[in-house]
Amino acid sequence: MEKIVLPEIKHLHLIDVYLANGGFNAARKAFSQSPDDIIDQVKKSGLRGRGGAAFSAGLKWSFMPKTTTKPKYLCVNGDESEPGSFKDRQIFEFNPHQLIEGILITCYAIGAKTCYIYIRGEYHKWIRLMENALADAYRHGFAGEQMKEKFNTDFSCEIYVHKGAGAYICGEESSLMNSIEGKRGYPRVKPPFPAQYGLWGCPTTVNNVETIANVPPIISNGWNWFAKIGEPKHPGTILFGISGHVNKPGVYELPSGTLLTDLIYNYAGGVPGNKKILCVIPGGSSMPPLRGDQLEGIKMDAESLKAAGSAIGTGGVMVMDEDTDLVKVLARITKFYYHESCGQCTPCREGTGWMLKILNRILRGEGSVNDLDLLISVANNIEGNTICALGDAAAWPVKFMIERFRDYFEERVSKEIKLPVANKVHSMRKTEFPLAEIKN
Ligand SMILES: Cc1cc2nc3c(=O)[nH]c(=O)nc-3n(C[C@H](O)[C@H](O)[C@H](O)COP(=O)(O)O)c2cc1C
Repeated sequence: MEKIVLPEIKHLHLIDVYLANGGFNAARKAFSQSPDDIIDQVKKSGLRGRGGAAFSAGLKWSFMPKTTTKPKYLCVNGDESEPGSFKDRQIFEFNPHQLIEGILITCYAIGAKTCYIYIRGEYHKWIRLMENALADAYRHGFAGEQMKEKFNTDFSCEIYVHKGAGAYICGEESSLMNSIEGKRGYPRVKPPFPAQYGLWGCPTTVNNVETIANVPPIISNGWNWFAKIGEPKHPGTILFGISGHVNKPGVYELPSGTLLTDLIYNYAGGVPGNKKILCVIPGGSSMPPLRGDQLEGIKMDAESLKAAGSAIGTGGVMVMDEDTDLVKVLARITKFYYHESCGQCTPCREGTGWMLKILNRILRGEGSVNDLDLLISVANNIEGNTICALGDAAAWPVKFMIERFRDYFEERVSKEIKLPVANKVHSMRKTEFPLAEIKN
């Protein structure tokens, strides 16, 4: 089966091995064509962003202004902090030069002369590996001023690894740019979008690591080749990071549209002890969960998952067997979003805390059926009411888990009591919530 982003070639992280396997030929080919041609090919290939929203990469590049006196920037998003997502770091580790080559081609296409690869600060190992690969690329003339001579072109670009400080919110593209600028990682109100007003107010494109790593093979093999792999509306391969109750957790590069059951049972080796599956979250912790008894026939691509009531997100598949305590799972997920909320928007800052407080109450055995409706109501009041999508990310698991597993949750809340809803909760400040109850 075709591997585009993580080919099975030993020591591919070494620049000599990358070069021996045709490395940097795609960049050479790209520089002999016009930037608009490159954008056109990427558009036609159907490549969609792998960072969550599955937006067309070529279309995004075409939003970059052509006539501007301002510098333009590319930011490669390697923050990868969503629970259940662990695929971009595989590219840093096993195929960093393909990412660098993808950066060269993308910068050329959008007219950027500077690129920042933003990596979460705690990912020391992958920061080091990416810095080493970048230093090698510079040493061999594949980045910076020397590339003019190497490729016999007028184009050059500088690439920097930028370390984040370790915040999920800094993966959101506008927070990421604020963070690079040295500011607090608060999301910006959009519009204006990054292509109009990005880094330091200049035109900027933000793309995920895996998205950019797909670019060199598209240029080498042609858009037509890529467009034929997997599902036509979301073509190519996807790096699926599968975790939880499977025998062989890990990252599997498979064509888009692979059956979810195939991924779980054939690639990831099924569920330990042959237990039944209770729940699957198909695209990182923020995506709507699916019931284990409704997985048959679900394909892993943006359109199919949307039709199944969820989303592809980051392709991080979390499998939970029949013995999983879903209330505990939901409380743990909610604790993450509560902790990571930047606090800028009231519905997210306060709402995540309220949801955690209610879930903790249910976990203590003090919940009521009213709590389930209250949770959905709080989630509905967060969703769509915040500057960035962290609010939705916090709301969706709560809303959809309770809606889809109502029977399960009702069993956990025996008593029907009248709750002291608004007044008490409303008056509490964030720091007063009892957070210690959910242990890692
Ligand atoms: C709270 C939050 C966290 C995010 N974290 C990431 C991340 O770690 N990596 C990523 O590529 N995109 C992340 N995104 C999506 C980015 O905002 C952006 O859409 C993405 O980097 C665009 O790349 P793509 O078009 O190649 O998918 C996040 C979004 C939100 C709302």
